[in-house]
Amino acid sequence: MNDKQLVAIQAATFVKDGMLVGLGTGSTANYFIEELARRQREDGLKITTVASSTISANMAQSLHLPIVALEHISYIDLYVDGADEVTPEMTLLKGRGSDLVKEKLLAKAATQFIVVADESKLVSRIGQNFVIPIEVIPFAWQLTKKSLHDAGAEGDLRPNAAKDGFWVTSHGSYVLEMKFDKNIDAETLNNIINNTPGVIEHGIFYSLADAVLIANNGHITERWR
Ligand code: 5RP
Repeated sequence: MNDKQLVAIQAATFVKDGMLVGLGTGSTANYFIEELARRQREDGLKITTVASSTISANMAQSLHLPIVALEHISYIDLYVDGADEVTPEMTLLKGRGSDLVKEKLLAKAATQFIVVADESKLVSRIGQNFVIPIEVIPFAWQLTKKSLHDAGAEGDLRPNAAKDGFWVTSHGSYVLEMKFDKNIDAETLNNIINNTPGVIEHGIFYSLADAVLIANNGHITERWR
């Protein structure tokens, strides 16, 4: 069993009968979804799920997990998702894919948000290994880029896979991939981006995680807020 699978299975032990559970997106979240389906099949676990992306919804449906649409919920009991970066203060960077809007809605709506990751995701500061993905309204991208540039950021639109156009998210937005001065702390960064017109959502998950489960060579460390 690899570390991502191990930590996802550990997170699934927090799922109890009757819960409304948010499903994250990515390879670690996939293991979590598989484990929920196994427990439903083998142990009779009774839960309802809500997905952060079409790909996770498809997976849940194909594994026969009961699923409700995001527009029909106002809270969830537990959200489990991976991350691209995790700081010692449990600030996350997410959104390498196209689904950070739903991911952040679910992280905020959850009574408990548990992050699952392997050791490679640990960083000392946000933006250490990845640029910060910022979803923008397509017609606003230049103005938004200029505002972020004035705040000291460098970057550009994320290209599509074929590099002959721009990446479009699940919600039809463009993504600016920005690098900020490394001395700006996560709270300030979060505020700067939140206050920039044209921004739909961004990949910094500040003060949202309740716990981080980190796997390293078969061992799991839990950090709780
Ligand atoms: C998607 C995410 C993922 O959770 C993040 O990229 C981690 O992915 P993986 O579990 O495959 O390493 O934020 O938006």
